Amino acid sequence: MSVAVLADPKIETPVPVARPNTVLSMQGVCKGFGSGVTRNEVLTNINLNVREGEFLAVVGFSGSGKSTFMKLLAGLEKPDSGDLLMNGQPIIGPDLSVAWCSRTTRFCLG
Ligand SMILES: Nc1ncnc2c1ncn2[C@@H]1O[C@H](COP(=O)(O)OP(=O)(O)OP(=O)(O)O)[C@@H](O)[C@H]1O
Ligand SMILES: [Mg+2]
Repeated sequence: MSVAVLADPKIETPVPVARPNTVLSMQGVCKGFGSGVTRNEVLTNINLNVREGEFLAVVGFSGSGKSTFMKLLAGLEKPDSGDLLMNGQPIIGPDLSVAWCSRTTRFCLG
């Protein structure tokens, strides 16, 4: 069976809605601390695309890397590898358009 929907010529053709822009893109992002046997790989191979208007919740156990993740977005930490783009531009340092408050250090930016 097939169904065909015929457009009524009196009704305007709907304008295709453009997909919102990607505001945040992370590709293969890794971040760890320390070296040798004390090395702690905190974030490994994070791949993420966040589009305009989307909400993102970061949840995890204490020590799982939430603050590290936010520090990467705020440009307060650099990834060991991978690409981090905000509005298509690499995050290379602190950006005043990013506001982030830490529960522990009470550091704010933006
Ligand atoms: N500058 C640093 N040097 C060394 N280790 C670090 C550093 N920053 C974070 N870590 C380690 O990285 C891991 C993740 O820490 P992070 O603060 O990102 O976790 P979290 O999910 O925010 O924890 P919490 O819920 O307690 O705030 C922890 O093991 C922490 O000790
Ligand atoms: Mg934290």
